[in-house]
Amino acid sequence: MSEQTVFLDDVAAPVRARKVFVKTYGCQMNVYDSDRMTDALSKDGYEATDRVEDADLVLLNTCHIREKAAEKVYSELGRLREMKKARARDGREMVIGVTGCVAQAEGKEILRRAPAVDLVIGPQTYHRLPDALRRAKGGERVIETDYAIEDKFEHLPAPDKARTRQRGVTAFLTVQEGCDKFCTFCVVPYTRGAEVSRPVSQILAEAEKLVEGGVREVTLLGQNVNAWHGEGPDGRPWGLGDLLRRLSEVEGLARLRYTTSHPRDMDDSLIAAHRDLPKLMPYLHLPVQSGSDRILKAMNRRHTAAEYIALIERVRAVQPDLAISGDFIVGFPGESDEDFEATMRLVGTVGYAQAFSFKYSVRPGTPGADMQNHVEEAVKAERLERLQSLLFTQQRDFAARCVGKTIDLLLEKPGRMPDQLVGRSPWLQPVNVGANGSEIGDIIKVRITDAGPNSLFAEAIG
Ligand code: 5AD
Ligand code: SF4
Repeated sequence: MSEQTVFLDDVAAPVRARKVFVKTYGCQMNVYDSDRMTDALSKDGYEATDRVEDADLVLLNTCHIREKAAEKVYSELGRLREMKKARARDGREMVIGVTGCVAQAEGKEILRRAPAVDLVIGPQTYHRLPDALRRAKGGERVIETDYAIEDKFEHLPAPDKARTRQRGVTAFLTVQEGCDKFCTFCVVPYTRGAEVSRPVSQILAEAEKLVEGGVREVTLLGQNVNAWHGEGPDGRPWGLGDLLRRLSEVEGLARLRYTTSHPRDMDDSLIAAHRDLPKLMPYLHLPVQSGSDRILKAMNRRHTAAEYIALIERVRAVQPDLAISGDFIVGFPGESDEDFEATMRLVGTVGYAQAFSFKYSVRPGTPGADMQNHVEEAVKAERLERLQSLLFTQQRDFAARCVGKTIDLLLEKPGRMPDQLVGRSPWLQPVNVGANGSEIGDIIKVRITDAGPNSLFAEAIG
């Protein structure tokens, strides 16, 4: 028997890599979490796929913020159930997991309503996913929705370099999670739990890893990102402004953003960061929800409309180039015509570059659900239409004012036309430009030539 002889049993059958399909709903934090889960599963030999038909494991990373978002999950689970059955007839397995905020809020209910689901994992226990998966494969229906005492970030792998490259030149980095504010309409304090800040060293290490993977712009994420706090290397207490200062020293990292902020947590140091840090983009997402003090109080926002406007003036005073974005809710219980007009007036005063607005959606378990004087759907719809039309006009006017400006553009992806690339303006608008020899990841000087409804057009200069 020569050394080359191989026994048939020794030849590994070509093992098909197992595939995971992750569908992400809701906010950027879910996008970040989906990537971390994919990274964690890659250690177990799972490759990400964007074709659900190919998947051995399907994860729905869900959102519970409004009723519609939660309902989408159940209809998707209905479709997956059929797919799973068809797969079983071919003798192949398909594991279905629900993660995210619906998992946290409705854990057992999901198992009851959706028999095809094998595992349910809340946002605080993603690091236990590989283990939960093993148990699910053993036939158990797994549910993990406690708020883990161990730090999930310490157990989740850092972003993988190769996958970071595939994901592109911009990345999210969660620095803070959870919320202690308890706005009366909101489920977040119940689904994401109490406010937790990640330590400086962990954040820095992750940012450096991202840069190694080719990332040029990092958006720091948190439900209350400006409530982030930590301890600097000097032992001094740090706020988000200090963290941004430190991150702007990371070589290769060209741009910084952060979202979402609460008006109560914009401190002087963060405002000064907008003055001092050229890498910090002149964009502030600062939800206000309503322009009526009465409604703000009922929402437990703990500030008035005038305080919000004054705050924006303070940030604009140090960074006149600032684009403001916001979130609004119309039809909160008790909202009168006059309250709504106050919201319209606030929008007129602030002038938004971008905004997100929603009809109030009752969330079980929140104080808002038990309030009197719920607003009729038709009234909500009418108010939303008026508000959105005003916000849309403001967005269009903001874009029109950008025409003629020269900006630095970070090129992110190929455009629709050949030899065209798309980047983001400092104010987060998509900008189309002729590639002109530039590559994705480059930051080039362009002049904005035209504004369309959803994006800008520019020409490279120099
Ligand atoms: N109904 C409607 N919109 C809501 N939001 C949060 N909870 C609700 C709800 N119950 C909106 C707020 C928040 C954004 C993320 O979602 O505007 O800022
Ligand atoms: Fe929800 Fe209010 Fe916390 Fe934002 S600040 S996550 S709206 S409770």
